[in-house]
Amino acid sequence: MNKKTFKDIEVVGKKVFVRVDFNVPMDESNKILDDTRIMAAVPTINYLVHQGAKVILCSHLGRPKGMFNPKFSLAPVAKRLQEILGVPVKLASDAIGESAKKLTGEMENGEIVMLENIRFYKEEEENDDNFAKDLANLADIYVNDAFGTAHRAHASTAGIARHLPAVAGFLMSKEIVSLSKAVDGAEPPFVVVLGGAKISDKIGVIAKLLKKANVFLIGGAMAYTFIAALGGKLGMSRYEEDKINVAKSILEEAEKLNVKVVLPVDVVIANEFSPDAKAKQVDAFNIPDGFQGMDIGNKTRKLFAKEIKKAKTIVWNGPLGVYEFKKFQKGTKKIAKAVAKSDAVSVVGGGDSVAAITELGYASKVTHLSTGGGATLKFLEGAVLPGVEMLEDK
Ligand code: 3PG
Repeated sequence: MNKKTFKDIEVVGKKVFVRVDFNVPMDESNKILDDTRIMAAVPTINYLVHQGAKVILCSHLGRPKGMFNPKFSLAPVAKRLQEILGVPVKLASDAIGESAKKLTGEMENGEIVMLENIRFYKEEEENDDNFAKDLANLADIYVNDAFGTAHRAHASTAGIARHLPAVAGFLMSKEIVSLSKAVDGAEPPFVVVLGGAKISDKIGVIAKLLKKANVFLIGGAMAYTFIAALGGKLGMSRYEEDKINVAKSILEEAEKLNVKVVLPVDVVIANEFSPDAKAKQVDAFNIPDGFQGMDIGNKTRKLFAKEIKKAKTIVWNGPLGVYEFKKFQKGTKKIAKAVAKSDAVSVVGGGDSVAAITELGYASKVTHLSTGGGATLKFLEGAVLPGVEMLEDK
């Protein structure tokens, strides 16, 4: 990576504004469902604390649309971080107001203050320069460790870097190095596993990886658009009608480049989109009327696992079925197991794919678990991420 990290600068006694991505999933009662993103930022925070920096943490949580909303408060996150670190994490009740100024103004070396959800200010997503300046005024140095939000050009992810020395944190560097290594130095067979709802989210990454990969395994709802492009009968499965031509050209391009595209041969279907829907397995190209595809079927799981077993490099993004419903997690979990068992260099990104790996206890068996969803896809498609671009070069 050609960007400076905080190891390249002096941080002792300095106020360091660290943008983290603590946008973690929560349930209705604000209980954190997965703390992977919090854990992933710990090395950066610990390093700064042990160096004697004054650590100011900033994150967004959810999409509160520029307004205060207690549902999106970072309070549970501050509490969880405090438990993990075993040192106090003070939460300011705002990000640039009296509370933030007071708490950051009286910090001792090695202390941690977390600002309240940065998206309670509409100026954040507008990348307002005055707002960025107000944030910068709280600190001496800016560290961006929020890889998951690096594809957003917001005040705390990009704008602030115009006003402070700006460097990358450990997580940011690790993400960039690991993702670049997996793709640029990919050893064949290079297998790309893609799932999730939409082709439209993944067109860029497919276009880029078609030139590098050997096999694509496609599941999730996006598979139905490919099946439609090949004339399959979809019942009432979700697909993108306006992307059928895109799917056709991807398949043609893959053929030209000698890239194998494996689509589901069988699927688990249900007659309603519900967690308790009655499920059965059918031919993926012949889904009866009134039914919709909810997961990849047994034969497909085996087919995908066989390709994964042969791989030397694996990139996986997106669930293979409706992961939010337990009943339809089996396909994704089977793939998680296959990836974990493989000796290949493996990179997994996207909330549900990462959740499947973590829930099954396979996190240590994967070469790199990316904390990014959209950011990982953007990076893999070769886009310049605003949150990285703004950081100082070495
Ligand atoms: C994510 O979860 O992908 C990041 O935190 C970015 O969140 P956003 O999509 O709401 O900008």
